[in-house]
Amino acid sequence: MERCVSQPNPEKILQTGLAFWASKTLLSAVEIGVFTELAQGAEGFEALSGRLGLHARSARDFLDTLVALGFLQRDGDRYSNTPETDLFLDRRKPSYVGGILEMANARLYPFWGHLTEALRTGQPQNEVKSGGTGMFETLYADPARLKGFLAAMSAISHGANMTIARKFPWSNYKTFVDVGTAQGDLAVQVAVANPHLRGNGFDLPEVAPIFEEYAAAAGVADRLSFIPGSFFDRDLPKADVVMMGHILHDWDLPTKQMLMRKAYEAIPTGGALIVYEAIIDDDRSKNAFGLMMSLNMLIETPGGFDYTGADCAGWMKDAGFSSTRVEPLVGPDSMVIGIK
Ligand SMILES: C[S@@+](CC[C@H](N)C(=O)[O-])C[C@H]1O[C@@H](n2cnc3c(N)ncnc32)[C@H](O)[C@@H]1O
Repeated sequence: MERCVSQPNPEKILQTGLAFWASKTLLSAVEIGVFTELAQGAEGFEALSGRLGLHARSARDFLDTLVALGFLQRDGDRYSNTPETDLFLDRRKPSYVGGILEMANARLYPFWGHLTEALRTGQPQNEVKSGGTGMFETLYADPARLKGFLAAMSAISHGANMTIARKFPWSNYKTFVDVGTAQGDLAVQVAVANPHLRGNGFDLPEVAPIFEEYAAAAGVADRLSFIPGSFFDRDLPKADVVMMGHILHDWDLPTKQMLMRKAYEAIPTGGALIVYEAIIDDDRSKNAFGLMMSLNMLIETPGGFDYTGADCAGWMKDAGFSSTRVEPLVGPDSMVIGIK
């Protein structure tokens, strides 16, 4: 029987090459506030495009593109959110994940436009390029951008945080510290799911009020406190478990190794280090998001890069950890656990 050999076709190439059209349409819809507007109820075309300030030339194309992409629904002339966009893209809801999309729209989209230059020079293409200081210093100088960035981190990490809070054997431990805690979503999820635990969030001083507000809103401020400081200038706060989410990928190898050593020093024998990121698969051929996140670290940092589970386990062993294991979390994220 003749074997059917599929002919090569350019579909996936063209789809990926022009995928930024769909991304930018969604990013502009978040920027304009389409889903927050429609969270109040379905609206007719004229009223909606008027309230959003859309020019008549392209208003219907724009809204119908969102329908075709599955982010809006339309019944006759009336537009409404889908259950997903209503829950996750309405700025007024605590389930809002638009923080990362707002940051992608304002910062990453224009910066990624210079990826070719970054690949040729090895230089970051963000605020640092136009003479700004480090990414965090530049962002944190502006309270609105600080709040936006920290909320974006909660949005991108929330799924992994919920899983770590439920999957890791917390009954063996009493205390934890989340290094580079940002708004504190991981620390809060761990504290909420494990009432026997006490913990700290450790981060740069500017982050304190945003963390404390978030912990108080979750009702865990009695068991969760903020410790201000820089991990370049001091030892890490002591705890049974040290956690680092999207921290190591920001830095070059010597800094990654320094943070590993400091984590090792901060925990007792039997204590644990949890590192989580979009850990690249050891064969470096499947986790496209993890690999692109590493390209994002090229765009955003002077020396940061993402890595495989085997890389991380090796650095942990070099730092003295006696055993390591890699566990999947959600989506592209995994955690690497080192036991002292
Ligand atoms: C990419 S964010 C990750 C936030 C959070 N852990 C997560 O996974 O969503 C990196 C965090 O590291 C913090 N950070 C940067 N430099 C630091 C330093 N020198 N000492 C302590 N924290 C620092 C930033 O303020 C930020 O909250």
